[in-house]
Amino acid sequence: EKGTYPHFMLKEIDEQPFVMRNIINQYQNENGDLKLDDDIRAAMKDADRVYIIACGTSYHAGLVGKQLIENIANIPVEAHIASEFVYNMPLLSQKPLFIFISQSGETADSRAVLVEVKRLGHKALTITNVPGSTLSREANYTLNLYAGPEIAVASTKAYTAQIAVLAILAVDSARAKGIELDFNPLQELAIVANAMEVLCDQKEEMEKIAREFLAVTRNAFFIGRAADFYVCLEAALKLKEISYIQAEGFAGGELKHGTIALIEDGTPVIALATQEHVNLSIRGNVKEVAARGAYTCVISMDGLQEEGDRVVLPKIHPYLTPLVSVLPMQLISYYAALHRDCDVDKPRNLAKSVTVE
Ligand code: M6R
Repeated sequence: EKGTYPHFMLKEIDEQPFVMRNIINQYQNENGDLKLDDDIRAAMKDADRVYIIACGTSYHAGLVGKQLIENIANIPVEAHIASEFVYNMPLLSQKPLFIFISQSGETADSRAVLVEVKRLGHKALTITNVPGSTLSREANYTLNLYAGPEIAVASTKAYTAQIAVLAILAVDSARAKGIELDFNPLQELAIVANAMEVLCDQKEEMEKIAREFLAVTRNAFFIGRAADFYVCLEAALKLKEISYIQAEGFAGGELKHGTIALIEDGTPVIALATQEHVNLSIRGNVKEVAARGAYTCVISMDGLQEEGDRVVLPKIHPYLTPLVSVLPMQLISYYAALHRDCDVDKPRNLAKSVTVE
């Protein structure tokens, strides 16, 4: 039920701090340590390469997951769009492990890959919000998201839950391989939950940004580098699907290779600047587009902010920045759709779970 909320999407955005805390509880043992299935740990330890397969928002979470597993557990990872993978399969490694990420667990494109992977005799892990769903039943292992039912077509809390669970999986796998870490995901996720709460309290500012930048525009661009780029892809998808604005996420460095030709006077460009190692470069990109007339809005992270940034995110562990940087993007998309009188929870032409290939 929506309760006092006008839309499920807003309710689900607001639920994200609780979902983080729920995940912490579910993946913690009595001693406060990580708790994960031994079989999953063994499968990750045994894999020489992980293939993440997903669609839409879940694919975007997979891109972040790739970075987490590679950086934390030192296992090579490829993230693939399910509908491409099934018809254009790359050469597989000797000991691949497949991870299917799916909120619903019913997505037909992902299932087609799972069927093929099983036929080839490979192992599969499904990360889903629906225990007992098709993808969960047909895979060898399942990790639950514990996000509670997601009703709005636009996925929000499932995305952040997927990233949180992928971070936990990455750390568990690292430990299994004897890698020393000074990153405790349960502690860091608690900090994320608090940061999410702070952002959920900033709805007025997000509404203002949506009104100022997106109320009448035909198109909009999101730019970022490294993990911010992945979040930009997700921000653009969120905005397109519920507001029908043509939106694209770009890697900052790619602008000069073509995209910058699209910038006209007043084109909205929303930039994410949460990554210290590329902060100077993304700031340069913001100046480049502004010089060509773009109307720019920078969302940065505490410690990296500059004068004029519209939103400053509370500082969290660098591995987990997408969990907080996506939240303003979700809210901005939500308010943009409201301003444009769109059906937020049930956008045209879309279904919550896509059960045809
Ligand atoms: O249930 P799934 O996670 O497998 O769904 C995948 C996509 O269909 C889904 O994420 C879709 O892109 C959302 N509408 C995005 O908000």
